[in-house]
Amino acid sequence: MNGEDVIKLMRRDAHPHVHNLRSKIVNTSERIELKSQRLVLRDYKADLSEIDAIFEFTGDALVATHSSWGPLTRDETLDWLNDAVRVQNTEPRAGFELGVCLAATGRIVGNASLHIRNLKNNEAEIGYTLNRAEWGQGYGTEVAKTLLAFAFNKLYLHRVYASTAPSNIASHRVLEKLGMTREGLMRENVLQRGHWRDSFIYSILDKEFLDSSSLKL
Ligand SMILES: CC(C)(COP(=O)(O)OP(=O)(O)OC[C@H]1O[C@@H](n2cnc3c(N)ncnc32)[C@H](O)[C@@H]1OP(=O)(O)O)[C@@H](O)C(=O)NCCC(=O)NCCS
Repeated sequence: MNGEDVIKLMRRDAHPHVHNLRSKIVNTSERIELKSQRLVLRDYKADLSEIDAIFEFTGDALVATHSSWGPLTRDETLDWLNDAVRVQNTEPRAGFELGVCLAATGRIVGNASLHIRNLKNNEAEIGYTLNRAEWGQGYGTEVAKTLLAFAFNKLYLHRVYASTAPSNIASHRVLEKLGMTREGLMRENVLQRGHWRDSFIYSILDKEFLDSSSLKL
């Protein structure tokens, strides 16, 4: 056993999952702010003052190409944002819609989401969307990696999955780069602008995350 293996074992032993504890619930008075190298993922401001930067990507048809939602009007974006802020105060907090901000400027350039879909089984679904002006710089991968760290290191979840359109190659790459496993194809489970479409499901388990040195932030 080398030094790295010992550290892995120590991390595992320190991890509540080994003892099969249920996930940790985030207190609703706690505001979320997750920092990575170049980004900050954080709760939206309750006064909805960030609407213009958000509408840049929610209202963009190119951004919505592979999604079941959108493009949204400004009013629909306001409704969505209102809902995201409401969920911030829901007890127990199972939903996280977070603004993705550039650390250097504070500007919101995307959205990151984590929703606990099954509290008993400690399972959540993640998602991410970026302003097209920021694509191709590794931010998508950085966002998803930050969400996984939040899921496993802070919420102590057991399993995280993501669902993506088979045509969404950029999203497949993000999930594959994080070592997530493509489990299979769900047939026609999404109604997307009047047409049924399939979804790939990708997942990662807590032990895989903890064992992966490439997932260190
Ligand atoms: C998916 C998305 C977040 C990716 O963001 P990004 O910052 O461009 O991703 P990254 O820069 O981290 O790139 C990840 C990988 O995808 C590849 N990639 C990015 N865009 C691609 C494209 N259009 N076609 C093929 N590969 C692409 C990159 O080359 C990179 O792989 P590599 O490191 O092997 O070269 C972004 O395209 C987006 O916001 N899309 C619209 C919303 C969406 O579809 N969200 C996902 C819903 S499941």
